[in-house]
Parts: sequence; structure tokens; C-alpha cells
Amino acid sequence: MSYGLTMKDPDKEDKFFFLLSGENPELAVFEFKSIISTLDIPLNLKVSSDNRVMNLHILPKNGVKNTSEVLSYLMERLTLVHFCCSHFFQVEFKQTPPESFNELISNHKITVVQDLTPSKSFSVITKRIGEPLERYKPRAMSLKLSRYLGAQIIKQNPTKQVNLDDPQEKFIAILSKHGLWFGKLISYSLRKDVQQRAAHKRPFFHPSSMNPLLQRTMVNLAAIKPNEWMLDPFCGTGGALIEASRLEIRSVGIEINPKILWGAYQNLKVDRITKDLADLIFGDAIQLPFRMNSISAIVTDPPYGTASSTRGFDLQDLLLDFFRAIRYILTSNARVVIAVPSYLKIEDNLAQILDASYVKFLHYVHRSLTRKILVFSLP
Ligand SMILES: C[S@@+](CC[C@H](N)C(=O)[O-])C[C@H]1O[C@@H](n2cnc3c(N)ncnc32)[C@H](O)[C@@H]1O
Repeated sequence: MSYGLTMKDPDKEDKFFFLLSGENPELAVFEFKSIISTLDIPLNLKVSSDNRVMNLHILPKNGVKNTSEVLSYLMERLTLVHFCCSHFFQVEFKQTPPESFNELISNHKITVVQDLTPSKSFSVITKRIGEPLERYKPRAMSLKLSRYLGAQIIKQNPTKQVNLDDPQEKFIAILSKHGLWFGKLISYSLRKDVQQRAAHKRPFFHPSSMNPLLQRTMVNLAAIKPNEWMLDPFCGTGGALIEASRLEIRSVGIEINPKILWGAYQNLKVDRITKDLADLIFGDAIQLPFRMNSISAIVTDPPYGTASSTRGFDLQDLLLDFFRAIRYILTSNARVVIAVPSYLKIEDNLAQILDASYVKFLHYVHRSLTRKILVFSLP
């Protein structure tokens, strides 16, 4: 699969940086680390203090996947990343950030010394994140920096041509009050593609369906390793199963409402997802038909609000019963990723049932619904 611009020789590079999405930076960092934990490769990760830029250094080891495979794996999965660049240089603003372009280049050594493909046309863009540095003319600062870096590239590689409309190589500078990162674009993430697959475009839609981007993020938070499979015991129209299947993760969904289960079947069918990849069971999430110690990942979005029915149960009681039901079927190190409405203060009780630690993230949906994404990790 091709991800936009590719590197001259990706396997020669070992340092990269990623721009994380600003809508929920803590969640973006957790998603990144969860996906990294499914890979068996030696690496160093370092995130900027505002949680917006992730540095990745892939360390040499015999027999590991090559670098381009690792990058493809990451960029295919991550939902809260905008793009990935190979790392040319980085400047940290330790105390006060520079207030102007002149201050930036006079106080910091900014030189591009890379040996680049001489024949390829290029462009340089600067992405500002967070508060603008030059208070009155932030755009001017970005433009000056892009031009300055472009001039540096030409100085080092005199035959390279600038092409702003359709460049063969794109160089990106990220500028924030914490620092400056510069490198060559490797690829954009598939975030936009996932966003376009809205749940209402599927053959069967229900107002309780979760949007594919959040659904995929939740699958990622479960840190599912190759050969592990995922259970969604309140699977509804099959959103989590579809995202898992697209990531080649096997899954099983359980649904108590036969009409919705039939809808999930239609949705899986149109995506040509076979029974071997995602299976559907008509059943009750609090009476699960699985062996002890058999499930290592649960990703689920139980009913709440007006859109989906708890079938007369109090939501709190339903969740407590559900956690009691999964307690014995989970393996050690299992993860349970669950979305609940933010007003429900139940996470400590749920963690106690599983004897697990947890992290929580708030996700704003609309004025009357903010979801709380809870990730429980078993010891
Ligand atoms: C919020 S929806 C799931 C939405 C799903 N993530 C999607 O994208 O379509 C919750 C689902 O749980 C189902 N449900 C309610 N109680 C259940 C139970 N005890 N066991 C299994 N499913 C149940 C509801 O019928 C509903 O379809």
C-alpha cells in the first residue's frame, strides 16, 4: 500500500517524528503507545511536553521487520496522527520561545545538511501548532521559516527545484512554543479515509452507531497483538468489528436485539468480511459463552442515552453485572476498552471488580453527550 510520498530509502532512516492530533493529545499519545506495544521491536519514544509531537527512534536489531514495514503498520492503524516525517533536525526551546523569526534564527542553529535526491522537486511547509509565537504576524513567521529552510536545501543541493503545486518531495517544519521539528514527509495517516466512512453510509444504520474514527481508536487502545482476537459484547451494528477486520484483527460480536444483529450482518457482508474474520452471536453480554482465561481484548460501547436501549436495566447495574461476567473469562494482561457517558462515575467500582488499573479520556460528541473512554489493564 502506498501512503502518499515515500522516502528515497526508508530502511536507511531510523529517526522519525509524528504530528499527533490536537483534539485530544493525551488520548493520541496513549493510542500511539498502545500500538507500539503490539510490536516486538527495540525503539525509543519521546513525546513533546504538549503531547503534540512524537519522536520515534527505531533501534537496530537483527531479524526485525524493516523500517518501512513498521511505518506502514503504524500509519495504517493510528487514528490520532496527522503525518509522519523522517527526522532531519529538531530545536528545543528550553526557556522562553523566540518571539520572532529573526530571534529564532539568530538564537538557534538551523541548518539542513542532508544529502537529498538532486533531481526531485520539493516544497517546504511550516505547520504552527498551539499558540502562535509571533503574536501579531504568526503567518509571516511560518512563511519566512519555510523560505529560509527551502533556501538551505538549495544551498546544500543546488540542482533541486522548488515546486509548490506538485512537489515530488515535501519537507515539513512543525513550530510550537516548545520547539521546532524538521524533516521529510513520509506519509499522511489514513485518518481522513476513516472519517469518510461515516456509519450512516452503511446498509444498516442505527442512531446508536459509533463513528468509525472513534471506533477504530478504541480498537487501537486495546493493544491487540497478532494472533489475539477481540470481543465486542454489545456489538450493535458492528462498528468495532468492521474496524478490527480492516486491521486484520479477528473478532466476535454479541448482540441481544435480533433486528440490530441482522443489521450488523448486512454491514459486515457489504465489506466482504467473512465469518472467519468477524463472527456474530445472538446473546446476552452478561451471560457470555466463553471459557475461563480465554479473552485478551474487549472493545465495547454499551447502551446508554436515548438512542440505544438498556432493555429496562439501570445502566450502572448493567455495567456492574457485565464486569462481573467478564471477570473470569479475561486472560492476564487483558485490556477492556469501554465507552460510557461522562456523568457516570463508575470506573473505580469496575476496576475493583477486575482488580485492574485504568486510564480515562473524555471525548466530546455533541452538546448533550460527552463520552468517557475507559481502558482497564489487567495485571
Ligand atoms: C451503543 S450500541 C452499540 C453501538 C455499536 N458500537 C455500533 O457502532 O453500532 C449498544 C448495543 O447493545 C445492545 N445491548 C443492550 N443490552 C444488551 C445485552 N445485555 N447484551 C448484548 N447486547 C445488548 C443494544 O441492543 C445496542 O445495539
